[in-house]
Amino acid sequence: MDGNGRWAAARGWPRLAGHRAGAEAVRRAVENAPRLGAGTLTLYAFSGDNWKRPPAEVQGLFRLFEEHLRAETRKCAEKGIRINIIGRRDRLPRRLVTMIESTEAATAGGRNLLLRIAIDYSARDSIVRAAQRLPRTKASSRELFSRLLAEVDHCAAAAPEVDLLIRTSGEQRLSDFLLWECAYAELYFTPKLWPDFTGKDLEAAVEAFRQRERRFGALRTSAAVVAAAV
Ligand code: IPE
Ligand code: MG
Repeated sequence: MDGNGRWAAARGWPRLAGHRAGAEAVRRAVENAPRLGAGTLTLYAFSGDNWKRPPAEVQGLFRLFEEHLRAETRKCAEKGIRINIIGRRDRLPRRLVTMIESTEAATAGGRNLLLRIAIDYSARDSIVRAAQRLPRTKASSRELFSRLLAEVDHCAAAAPEVDLLIRTSGEQRLSDFLLWECAYAELYFTPKLWPDFTGKDLEAAVEAFRQRERRFGALRTSAAVVAAAV
């Protein structure tokens, strides 16, 4: 979800106003994801490297997360949206962690959408921490590693494969997001700033995704038939 700061700067507003507008775009994405066929939506809200930002912005973001979790929990529970905050929790303000825990508990029964929000998340740190938990005796498998990865990140379920990764604001980077889970993700980049990202934009991204041919290293279906015939 990139471009909040630029969106605010273009209006001569403080960066936090951009983050507030970004929260509205989150609401739109969550509303539209299920009808577009998404079972899981993961939003990158705060990276491990975002700690490098000025303390006032970091605190403002944490306040915003807390505020929105408090405001949305009941509505999400009613709509069958399960909220899961992924990433580290040991560096977050205690109040936010308490809010995260109660939101997760209140929405745990949701089956319409798994809404994952990554806060203090770094894929590389997660991979290192999961690797440290690999048992030395057992032959390790990808499944086991995915489970360990889920464990270190407080994921509600084993790390799901990402089908479609969308990055807004014209940047074309992964920025340490879900590196393991994105092994075969289709990448979609749009110049739209996150606060301007609408349900229609999400629809366009999903439509582009549907046009992609995913082979996962194998041959195209028609080529495979020919190969099988010879
Ligand atoms: C992304 O918007 C949101 C967060 C990291 C919380 P930015 O804050 O990165 O916005 P730009 O890149 O400055 O426009
Ligand atoms: Mg940015």
